Amino acid sequence: MLGPLNHVAIAVPDLAAAAKQWKERFDAEVSEPQAEPDHGVTVVFVSLPNTKIELLEPLGENSPIASFLAKNPRGGIHHISIETGDLLPLRDRLVDQGVTITGTGEPRPGAHGNPVIFLHPKDFNGALVELEEV
Ligand code: CO
Repeated sequence: MLGPLNHVAIAVPDLAAAAKQWKERFDAEVSEPQAEPDHGVTVVFVSLPNTKIELLEPLGENSPIASFLAKNPRGGIHHISIETGDLLPLRDRLVDQGVTITGTGEPRPGAHGNPVIFLHPKDFNGALVELEEV
């Protein structure tokens, strides 16, 4: 049911500076910034052999990471993303078990164009968990 770790996301106050740091300190492969207005973020991916690091910067007025950065002005680990199979049956099972899905609860296209949902941190020991249908 759970597949590989797709990425670990770090919210950052300055995306260009964060991307530069990963590039220069490690010669890491770092993607171009990608605006995701639907999610209120601009993202950059740092490629690792077995997974990715997603750097997130707020985009627009009501960015969901704005309050996170207000509490963590230097940035911090924001969520982890795990690949799954069909999301809808899994979503329904989790909801039946009392897990809260953030937002409308409906899958939306994520950074890779695949449907994603987010499980509320209150149900997962404070960790925001993204599930991505692959
Ligand atoms: Co993510």
